Amino acid sequence: MEQKFTGMQAVGEIVAEFPKAAEIFKENGIDFCCGGDKLLTVAVKELILNEAMVVEKLNQAYAALVKNKQENVDVDWRQQSFTQLIDHIVSTHHLYLQRELPQISEFTNKILRVHGENHSELAKVHKLFHVLKMELEQHLIKEEEILFPLIKEYEKNPSAQSLAKIKNVTNDIEAEHEQAGDIIKELRKITNQFQYPADACTSFKITYQKLEEMESDLFQHIHLENNILHPRLQEKH
Ligand SMILES: [Fe+2]
Ligand SMILES: [Fe+2]
Repeated sequence: MEQKFTGMQAVGEIVAEFPKAAEIFKENGIDFCCGGDKLLTVAVKELILNEAMVVEKLNQAYAALVKNKQENVDVDWRQQSFTQLIDHIVSTHHLYLQRELPQISEFTNKILRVHGENHSELAKVHKLFHVLKMELEQHLIKEEEILFPLIKEYEKNPSAQSLAKIKNVTNDIEAEHEQAGDIIKELRKITNQFQYPADACTSFKITYQKLEEMESDLFQHIHLENNILHPRLQEKH
């Protein structure tokens, strides 16, 4: 079997080349968005994982993808225009958050009311989620109203001045991604990896499932911005 990936590649670079790698990294607790610059070998050592096993899993999954090439090959966002990438981010990931954040809010309220007395972690889940929700709402507005229009304009009319502005804003944006990532990590921790207890009712289960799904979507979303969109802009001068 062809060995496509090795430990000597940055984790963000691997996911950029092979989006499905995100799932393998997530399963193993490897942070590929905020820790995207890290070499895979370093990331696995920090987590005391078996490097050969992780690399093998990546190569197997990649081989399977190549085999099923005729079906639904993932788009390589490094090759698309800035405008196409931004439109994809907004129509997929921003829309997802706009739809899910209010729903998850209702669920965390509901399960806190019903099970808060017996499950003290639910007050923390409720609070952390709502801090994250507020921060993400402001973050999406900043991207949709300030950063993305600047980038689209720059793509039509490139100038050093607008590029400098863009680079400034992306620094703030990445700091916000890091904050969101920290809250998600905390949520994962206090929910015991989103594992609902044996006595959980359906709403409890749905809440944890939705939180975990939000984590996946957020990782993919931040990955597209931190590892593809922003570096491609940073390269310009
Ligand atoms: Fe975004
Ligand atoms: Fe973002």
